[in-house]
Amino acid sequence: MSRYDRFAGAAAALALIGIALAAHARDYGLGHPASAQQIAGWDIDVRPDGTGLPDGQGSVADGEQVYEANCAACHGTFGDSNEYIALAGGVGSLASGAPVRTVGSKLNYATTLFDYINRAMPFPHSKSLSADEVYAVAAYVLNLNDIVPADFVANRQTLPAVKMPNRDGFKPFPGMMSVRGKPDVRNTACMKDCEKAVAITGQLPAGFVEGMYGDIRDNFRGLATMNEAPPPAGAAPAGAPSGHALTQQYGCVACHGTDKAIVGPAFRDVARKYQGDATATAHLTRKIREGGSGVWGSVPMPPQTGPSDVELTAIIQWVLAGAKTP
Ligand code: HEC
Ligand code: HEC
Repeated sequence: MSRYDRFAGAAAALALIGIALAAHARDYGLGHPASAQQIAGWDIDVRPDGTGLPDGQGSVADGEQVYEANCAACHGTFGDSNEYIALAGGVGSLASGAPVRTVGSKLNYATTLFDYINRAMPFPHSKSLSADEVYAVAAYVLNLNDIVPADFVANRQTLPAVKMPNRDGFKPFPGMMSVRGKPDVRNTACMKDCEKAVAITGQLPAGFVEGMYGDIRDNFRGLATMNEAPPPAGAAPAGAPSGHALTQQYGCVACHGTDKAIVGPAFRDVARKYQGDATATAHLTRKIREGGSGVWGSVPMPPQTGPSDVELTAIIQWVLAGAKTP
């Protein structure tokens, strides 16, 4: 056998393995090319110059309605929920001894506000707003910060043109030197007595994220179809949502764990506190609707207008019955 023959033989063998692997993958039906529509569903980033902003528009006035319905419960009526996450105020305070970090004081581009809301809010029902609603609520949050006037209409042209107060406050980290056009970073590799095991810890109650988001696939169903199994035959049709499910639907669980306090008290502690109290339902109905502080501490609960009266009653009955999870 000449060297050439050996080479040709090896090449042919490799080609055969390649064909076998390709056939193998086909046999199992693994994966399929992402369609342009699927990619578009994930490709939502918005750049400072407005690249990536969708069609649509929204006014400050429309945004006020979107905000009242979807955001005020957590961020406060005027974006002023300081104990939680204030969205307004603090402009000019960053370099002071008492910096207040908000959208208005912190962001350098208004397009980032659009991207953030469009991507992540309203918690936990991210991506549930239309482009028009995101434009509107972004305009409203900018107006709460006195950055745009009350007749401002946000769209693809106007939003990138907004000059944020902190536009020039960001310092891009330059790195020590440039490596192929990117900044390097400095770190000292650990060579002895290094950490053996890294414990990943968190402050949220166990099961919080799972309880919050449920089946992750549901969150993306509107964006891109995924391979999924049909529901099991004979599955029970969903009835009226339980009090427990309603606390997830209306974002109560962002501040209340069932058995762990977060920003507000654990629902089971509420059940214990009001055990045998005949006035509990009336008190809690008013308290949840109007918000307020002083019973569990100084942090106030923002007024909760999301649940209907019937739903609120179901929630309170579930809480007072011991906040049992399925
Ligand atoms: C159930 C509570 C909840 C609701 C409702 C909610 N948010 Fe948020 N929001 C959060 C939390 C929690 C964070 C902080 C997330 C983080 O830091 O990872 C946040 C962060 C933000 C931020 C970033 C703030 C910053 O300083 O970086 C913006 C902007 C925002 N929300 C806007 C909105 C808008 C607009 C709505 C309504 C469409 C909304 N949120 C509804 C809980 C909520
Ligand atoms: C932004 C955080 C936040 C959200 C969202 C929130 N709460 Fe609260 N909640 C609190 C805080 C803080 C308290 C404690 C108030 C106090 O000390 O009086 C509280 C108190 C309560 C109490 C006890 C009230 C009392 O007087 O003993 C109940 C019940 C309650 N919340 C139910 C709900 C329900 C139901 C929802 C959703 C519709 C909800 N909360 C959404 C923060 C929140």
